[in-house]
Order: sequence, then structure tokens, then C-alpha cells
Amino acid sequence: MMSGRRPLIAGNWKMNGKPLEGASLARELRSALQDPPAVDIMVFPPFLSINTAVEALKGTDITVGGQDLHPEAGGAFTGNVSGEMLKAAGCKAVLVGHSERRTYEKESGELLAAKVAGALRAGLQVIFCCGETSDERDAAVTQQVVVSQLNDGLGDLRATEMEQVVVAYEPVWAIGTGRVASPEQAQEVHATIRSWAAKTWDSGSARALRILYGGSVKPTNVAGIMAQPDIDGALVGGASLNADSFQGIVCYGGR
Ligand code: PGA
Repeated sequence: MMSGRRPLIAGNWKMNGKPLEGASLARELRSALQDPPAVDIMVFPPFLSINTAVEALKGTDITVGGQDLHPEAGGAFTGNVSGEMLKAAGCKAVLVGHSERRTYEKESGELLAAKVAGALRAGLQVIFCCGETSDERDAAVTQQVVVSQLNDGLGDLRATEMEQVVVAYEPVWAIGTGRVASPEQAQEVHATIRSWAAKTWDSGSARALRILYGGSVKPTNVAGIMAQPDIDGALVGGASLNADSFQGIVCYGGR
């Protein structure tokens, strides 16, 4: 791990927990992580739990983000939430391009680029997710798939804008399946992502870019993943819904 990059452990709660449950998970995290290691910690509650999570985590170093946003700042877009609204609610970041949204909500590369622009305009950090399906891995097109998702979503940004972006590599076949990528499989793709950043911008941007791994990360497998030179943290789904297991990941990840 690393070369001056501060690790980041992020918990994606997905569509789990009502606002009061989100508040109690946030309070449990607050006490479990009273003495956190040198690592950035973020949680991504469902929209309706953002307020209660922000309140419960006030005064801690744990920051809160949104799981999605609409590209526009406001207007006639029924059912949507803008980056500006997330920011005003106390969010510091937002997820863009999660495979569940690419698949179930049919989000295109073009839409994701617009969402990235909207998030940056609102002053939010972007956690941009990418990753191949198991068919794509079997067809040996992982690198091409990931690079094309990155080009579509982030390719038009300036180097200064990339400072607000974190990339999360999440192989679709590893999400929620218990089938974690091996540290070597993940490292190979992370190295590709870093060299893509060097080619698209410059070597300084590439060196500074934080690249998280996501997909069945648990306290028992995080250490091997974090030991890889191009892996700077984890985006955690299932194991972030329990304060003890999330704390276990943060503490190993921060070593
Ligand atoms: P998982 O989800 O940890 O439950 O596999 C990861 C994610 O979707 O971000």
C-alpha cells in the first residue's frame, strides 16, 4: 500500500436501514472508532438516513456521503436528489457508477460523466466505481472494460478536478457474493488504473490517485488486499452494516 496516499475505508450501506437504524449504526461506529488509525473513513447511508448519520457523527472524523445524485442542481426531476442538496445536508462525497446502478438503473457512461460533473460543481468528492462482470473476466477483457468505463466517466476531467476523485475497482462477480478477488487479481487491475491516469493526465496525478478495492471485503481478507502497492483502501458493502466488522476492516486497513 501507498506512497504518501492516505488510506480510505468507505462503507456503502446500500438500501438498508430506516433512519433510526442508520442513526444507531452511526452511533455504534462512533464508539467503535473512538481511536481510529490514520485512515479516512466514510459512510454512504440511504438518502433518508443521511441527516441522522451526519448528526450522530458530528465532531468525529467519519464523513458521510450520498449513494447517488442527479446531474442538475435542481428543477423538475421528480424523485431525484442533487449534489447541492447532498452538500447542504452535510455530505462530503458521493458514489457514482456503482455496478448496481449501472445494471438495475441502466446508467450509461454519458450519464455518469454528467453526474461526476454535477458532483464536482456541488463541491463533493466523487468515488467513481468501475469493474468487469464474470463473463468479461472469462473473456479476458477486464482491462479494456475498466479503462473504457474510466474514459467514459472521468476522461474529460482536468488534472485539478481529478484531485477530488477516488476510483473504486469493484469486480461485479465479487460484489455481495463472498467471492473476493485475490490480492494479485486486484493489484493487476489497480496498476492498470494507475497507468491509465498517468497516460490521461500525468505521473503526479497518477501517483496521487487513491484507488479502492470493493467486493466482499471483510476483516479477514482486508490485510492481504491492503498489502498491495496500488490498493489504497476499500469500498465495503455487507460488512459495513455491522459496526464491529467495519471497525475490524478500518483497523486492518489503516495499518
Ligand atoms: P460487498 O459490496 O462488500 O457487499 O461485496 C461492495 C460494494 O458493492 O460496494
